Amino acid sequence: MTTLPFVGRRNQYLFPAALALLIFIVGLRIVLDNSKNSRSFFRLSGGGYRHIRVSNDEIIEKGCNIFEGKWVWDNVSHPLYTEESCPLLVKQVTCQKNGRPDSYYQNWKWQPDGCNLPRFNALKLLEILRDKRLMFVGDSVQRGMFDSMVCLVQSVIPEGKKSLTRVPHRRIFRAEEYNSSIEFYWAPFLVESISDNATNHTVLKRLVRLDSISNHRKQWEGVDFLVFESYVWWMFNSTIINATYVNLKNVQEYNVTTAYKIALETWANWIETNINPNNQKVFFMTMSPTHLWNWEWKTGDGGSCFGETQPIQHPYWGTGSNLDIMGIVKDVLGRLRVNVRVLNITQMSEYRKDGHASIYGERKGKLLTKEQRSDPKNFADCGHFCLPGVPDTWNEILYGVLLQDYRKF
Ligand SMILES: *[C@@H]1O[C@H](CO)[C@@H](O)[C@H](O)[C@H]1NC(C)=O
Ligand SMILES: *[C@@H]1O[C@H](CO)[C@@H](O)[C@H](O)[C@H]1NC(C)=O
Ligand SMILES: *[C@@H]1O[C@H](CO)[C@@H](O)[C@H](O)[C@H]1NC(C)=O
Ligand SMILES: *[C@@H]1O[C@H](CO)[C@@H](O)[C@H](O)[C@H]1NC(C)=O
Ligand SMILES: *[C@@H]1O[C@H](CO)[C@@H](O)[C@H](O)[C@H]1NC(C)=O
Ligand SMILES: *[C@@H]1O[C@H](CO)[C@@H](O)[C@H](O)[C@H]1NC(C)=O
Ligand SMILES: *[C@@H]1O[C@H](CO)[C@@H](O)[C@H](O)[C@H]1NC(C)=O
Ligand SMILES: *[C@@H]1O[C@H](CO)[C@@H](O)[C@H](O)[C@H]1NC(C)=O
Repeated sequence: MTTLPFVGRRNQYLFPAALALLIFIVGLRIVLDNSKNSRSFFRLSGGGYRHIRVSNDEIIEKGCNIFEGKWVWDNVSHPLYTEESCPLLVKQVTCQKNGRPDSYYQNWKWQPDGCNLPRFNALKLLEILRDKRLMFVGDSVQRGMFDSMVCLVQSVIPEGKKSLTRVPHRRIFRAEEYNSSIEFYWAPFLVESISDNATNHTVLKRLVRLDSISNHRKQWEGVDFLVFESYVWWMFNSTIINATYVNLKNVQEYNVTTAYKIALETWANWIETNINPNNQKVFFMTMSPTHLWNWEWKTGDGGSCFGETQPIQHPYWGTGSNLDIMGIVKDVLGRLRVNVRVLNITQMSEYRKDGHASIYGERKGKLLTKEQRSDPKNFADCGHFCLPGVPDTWNEILYGVLLQDYRKF
């Protein structure tokens, strides 16, 4: 993967090289439908019903915005797994193994202001996913969420009953006894682009087909739970991006916001005409924040997320999280007739300047060299998160939501 030179650290729109690998998930606008019933039935594809018990402390209080809250220290309940207990983790996120000296970033629990999140229960999640497919669609940020989800469930499945396969554009984790899969599908712009080859692509040359989604949609059809996300690939050049609309020969420079809106509408049209809300659920994750410039949260010294070991404790919104794009997401999703849940993880993740891979991750598929590590200003990855870490919390939230409304199926 080609990377970008680091240009002008005060330009909030420019993403340094480390970001080439980044792509993320976003926020929730959730209207939780809770019931005081402590039990419900989940419909099985065979026509039968399976009983999943939801205890009272697993019910998210009605009206609670689970994305508003704070991170609290909890080294008893977190992390939910370890690097050692999840052999499927890729080198890019195993920060401990890669030499990160502190591990505090693994011990924070998300505490919503108005309610509690249910404790993650892998067996219940697998029951919810029985005979079903859960697919994360997007860029490497979504891949991080996929990796996290696989780690969260894999330890309860015996050897020989689980598998992870890679096919072009996709990763598929299967839980045999549940006839269930958790998948990742690479589509960094959601619509088609020249970056769609999951291994052969470059952030320097981007060309997006704003009106075209047909190659991707075939892979999404019929999937029971879809979690979409697309942001960082749009943002490498602050303002403009090359794209085509209808006529493939007519390449034009578009404002990024204009292009994003058209692309999201292309995607939204597909959602409207193809999703069956009776048996499919769609989520859209808001942008995952980056922490590239430490002057944004403290009296900075020109550094980045490198060396940060604690979350930000005061109200904070980084300039890398573009409000115009956020507004477009809100607007386009708000007009949909099909209910797409927003996983609004941006604000909660903004606090986590301590959670990134920093110099303990990869660059172009290789761990950083000693020389690169001694130059964190240019080489720290302040976009991707270590695992276990922040993406686990996004999945705890996704789990909480799925648990609340499984009975609607
Ligand atoms: C958990 O955190 C507390 C408070 O910081 C500390 O005293 C304790 O040693 C920690 N326990 C573990 C197992 O790390
Ligand atoms: C396994 O799950 C798929 C959906 O993911 C479903 O189409 C198929 O019928 C299931 N197989 C069995 C044997 O239930
Ligand atoms: C990668 O894709 C480009 C076209 O997008 C092609 O020109 C190039 O040869 C490919 N690289 C490899 C190694 O196949
Ligand atoms: C992606 O690019 C690689 C290298 O150019 C090529 O071998 C592979 O077949 C491509 N994959 C797809 C799905 O086009
Ligand atoms: C964005 O691309 C345009 C056209 O190629 C170029 O003039 C401009 O300098 C680029 N901006 C940044 C911030 O790279
Ligand atoms: C758009 O493509 C043209 C021609 O390849 C290139 O000169 C220009 O820099 C590109 N613009 C951006 C923003 O990438
Ligand atoms: C593109 O962005 C520029 C600068 O922000 C703005 O003046 C212009 O109106 C935008 N064009 C479109 C078509 O949105
Ligand atoms: C996500 O939450 C932020 C506040 O943290 C809000 O400003 C934004 O509009 C929300 N985004 C969506 C798409 O609902």
